[in-house]
Amino acid sequence: MEEELLPVPTHVAIILDGNGRWAKAKGMPRTYGHIQGAKRVEPITKAANELGIKYLSLYAFSTENWNRPAEEVSTLMKLLAKYMKICQKLCLQEGMRARIIGDKSGLPEDLLREAAELEQATARNTGMCLCICINYGSRDEMVRAMRQMYKDIRDPSEITEEKFSAYLDTYDIPDPDLLIRTSGEQRVSNFLLWQLAYAEFYFTPVDWPDFTEEELKKAVDTYRHRNRRYGKV
Ligand code: IPE
Ligand code: IPE
Ligand code: MG
Repeated sequence: MEEELLPVPTHVAIILDGNGRWAKAKGMPRTYGHIQGAKRVEPITKAANELGIKYLSLYAFSTENWNRPAEEVSTLMKLLAKYMKICQKLCLQEGMRARIIGDKSGLPEDLLREAAELEQATARNTGMCLCICINYGSRDEMVRAMRQMYKDIRDPSEITEEKFSAYLDTYDIPDPDLLIRTSGEQRVSNFLLWQLAYAEFYFTPVDWPDFTEEELKKAVDTYRHRNRRYGKV
């Protein structure tokens, strides 16, 4: 009997990793890797949209990434601000909506301004949702959610899984179906811990600056051959 394929994943989350090592292997500074890696965002976003993916989450900067050398952090912040503009153009072209996920407090002013503009300018679009995760850490997100919930809720029995989900940054975004991590590392590094409960994981040795549309198709195709059981038989 022919195996039944899963539909294209609704939500694909990507840990874009390996920029630094990719650059180092070429005898270049880590920041070169970030610049080249950032250039993959546009083609991969377009390819995801064409594949019929409805939500694409990109892990761009974690709450732990502040512990990198100041110069690298500053390059990343500048690059992110620049990409808010590039993503705005892309989203308006493709009818896509953008969401910035993570703790916005502590981000540079110009990045915040560009991020707000990107979200506002694309808010009414109904195409694919592009979620860019900046200063994002899953534990931080859950602590922020719990603090807010503690203010709003008096009776603990009111707390349900659905209610807690509604307090997360991803309140209006369905859980990822597929998690991709590039660069050969096999860990989640504090990304969407709650939301990934039943996601399928796909790890590739390819570094993010080399991640092509073809690689994305390969990941989606692998996913479609998986058997999701959700604890059932
Ligand atoms: C991913 O590449 C980009 C960010 C985390 C901002 P890395 O910078 O982590 O590259 P490697 O993992 O050190 O090679
Ligand atoms: C995860 O990559 C964070 C992002 C991709 C933004 P890291 O490179 O920071 O993760 P670790 O340190 O290898 O776990
Ligand atoms: Mg890394």
